[in-house]
Amino acid sequence: MIDQTKLPNVLEYVTYTDYNQVAEAIRTLVVRGAPAIGVSGAFGLALAALQSDAKEKDELIHYLENAKKILFETRPTAINLAWGLEKIMDVAKNADDVDQIRTSVIGTAKQMADEDIQINMSMGKNGSELFDDDDTIMTHCNAGALATVGYGTALGVIRATKESGKNIKVIATETRPVQQGSRLTAFELMHDGIDVSLIPDTAVGYTMANGLVNKIVVGADRILRTGHVYNKIGTYQVATMAKQHNIPFYVAAPLSTFDMKSDPQDIIIEQRKASEVTGIGDKKTAPDGISVINPAFDMTPPELISGIITEKGIAKPSFEDSIKKLFEAN
Ligand code: MRU
Repeated sequence: MIDQTKLPNVLEYVTYTDYNQVAEAIRTLVVRGAPAIGVSGAFGLALAALQSDAKEKDELIHYLENAKKILFETRPTAINLAWGLEKIMDVAKNADDVDQIRTSVIGTAKQMADEDIQINMSMGKNGSELFDDDDTIMTHCNAGALATVGYGTALGVIRATKESGKNIKVIATETRPVQQGSRLTAFELMHDGIDVSLIPDTAVGYTMANGLVNKIVVGADRILRTGHVYNKIGTYQVATMAKQHNIPFYVAAPLSTFDMKSDPQDIIIEQRKASEVTGIGDKKTAPDGISVINPAFDMTPPELISGIITEKGIAKPSFEDSIKKLFEAN
């Protein structure tokens, strides 16, 4: 995988042979973005099946349960991680013996990676219909090829809109504290030759009030059956400001990002380390000893959302019904 902590200055690929290394890579944001950590978790668990020297099925399943726990505990908010791990665990439990487990978990992880790209391309095509020639689209955080196996969710929609021949511009928010917007989204869009301007997070209101943006699309880490969307911290501010200025606010995410069981009070918002806020990279920008609040995600309520773009179609308000229909049609 690409070490995303080094971007945009260094493009470095890292290779892992131990599931503990994969867990550490997820924990430290070497790989990040909900679909990318879902598939990385699946590959991590497949690696664990290869690492174990178990001779009996029960013994290997026990080893995998432990590895699954370690991988699962790396990041709590994006549901794709649990989805990827469960899928591998199911395949392992349904296999007859240790050899079949090893072969089938590797095959399944590879299939999940291939499917992720196809899903993003379908989502992109569906979403592109919401965007017009000469639109300027704001996006927050990074929901691109780097946050997935390839192509991207929100950036996949932007890519597909451009590929359909429409002339579009993008405004990317910097996305403090880890700067996924400036380091990753700006990097990806410039690489693809898409017209992108970077703004500080604090300029969201200014750009909307001055007519510099007319649509918004972001990704998601978890979406509830009610249409509550959990995404990178700051998304709620963007959505609230969009409502104030009557600008459509869309979310793009695969069905694997939906959590049809939980309610808002069940969701754990990851709190990250203070040093992400007290500095930028290695440079300290705050006084020693300052106390910090650093939630990595926030919740955008359904009434601020104009539509949720998936590989199976677009859910529109009221979301409880439209999301249910997407799953029924699946
Ligand atoms: O903390 P991160 O970088 O893993 O944040 C997740 C995200 O990349 C975003 O919230 C994104 O918009 C959704 S994942 C495609």
